Amino acid sequence: MSDAQHGALRVKIDRIEPVTPEINRYTFSALDGSWLPPFSGGSHVQVLIPVEGETRRNAYSLMSSPYDTSRYQIAVRRVEDGRRGSIAMHTEVREGDVLSVTTPANLFPLSKHARHHLFIAGGVGVTPIYAQLHELSIKGASFELHLAVRGPEHAALGRELEGLYGDRVTIYGDRDGTRLNTLDVLSGRPLGTHTYVCGPARMVDDVLESAHSLGWTDSHVHFERFDDLGSTGEAFSVTLARSGAVIEVSPEQSLLEAVEEAGHRLPYLCRGGACGECETEVLELDGTIDHRDDWLSESERATNTVIMPCVSRATCLKLVLNA
Ligand code: FES
Repeated sequence: MSDAQHGALRVKIDRIEPVTPEINRYTFSALDGSWLPPFSGGSHVQVLIPVEGETRRNAYSLMSSPYDTSRYQIAVRRVEDGRRGSIAMHTEVREGDVLSVTTPANLFPLSKHARHHLFIAGGVGVTPIYAQLHELSIKGASFELHLAVRGPEHAALGRELEGLYGDRVTIYGDRDGTRLNTLDVLSGRPLGTHTYVCGPARMVDDVLESAHSLGWTDSHVHFERFDDLGSTGEAFSVTLARSGAVIEVSPEQSLLEAVEEAGHRLPYLCRGGACGECETEVLELDGTIDHRDDWLSESERATNTVIMPCVSRATCLKLVLNA
């Protein structure tokens, strides 16, 4: 079945800009010149990237203004030991190329009830927040951003935001080696403050731990984490019970991608282990599941009777799914 039949949008890459040694920004518009679908700050799209005869579906946050859908912008960090999708974006995709992207979905939305929005980001985790700050500034809402980077050469996106929003943006690790202390940032906040964190898993875990220890309510803490290695790992095979198909999952593919590559379909939305859409029942397993999602509870994981194929893998000789 073609991408078009699955609702993917055909877009043309209008501009590619290097913004840091590792990050390129891509601006694209609809191939037929129409308006792109509307989205809200925090949304992402999946970009379908051809890699060595397979298709990688990498999720990237939209960083452009939700108030201008004549174009979308994403930032792609080159991940050397990942699934090669980001490398293909950096080395093979050129201005003028046509790609397919999915319609936007938002799993990291702004709270409508917040009186103050407190953002914490690490590195390229600032990209969904880029669009959110644009939305909040147009609405005249109260916000601040604390952004941690690995050094001045990685701070370009933060400096752009500093230029737009002044002292509402604080960058750590940029010029003077200051370090982000999440306990300090989250302490003493007035009622009605919501915090949003986007960054590497260990940063998100640190913010969640700090918020918990300070007594923040879970409903006021929003997070989106990214995993540098995605869903790569050892090869294994899976059997789909309904069709009897036996599918090999290569080290660079996710289980979901391997199933799609073999011409079968599983439900999905985020493809990042966060939304729960792809949850699939495990009928047989003679090994262990490497659960990498943020969806299942510890007790659900321990049963090994469900798996999130978008990110999780298995170490086994036999894995049979109810699919
Ligand atoms: S598609 Fe969202 S958790 Fe798998």
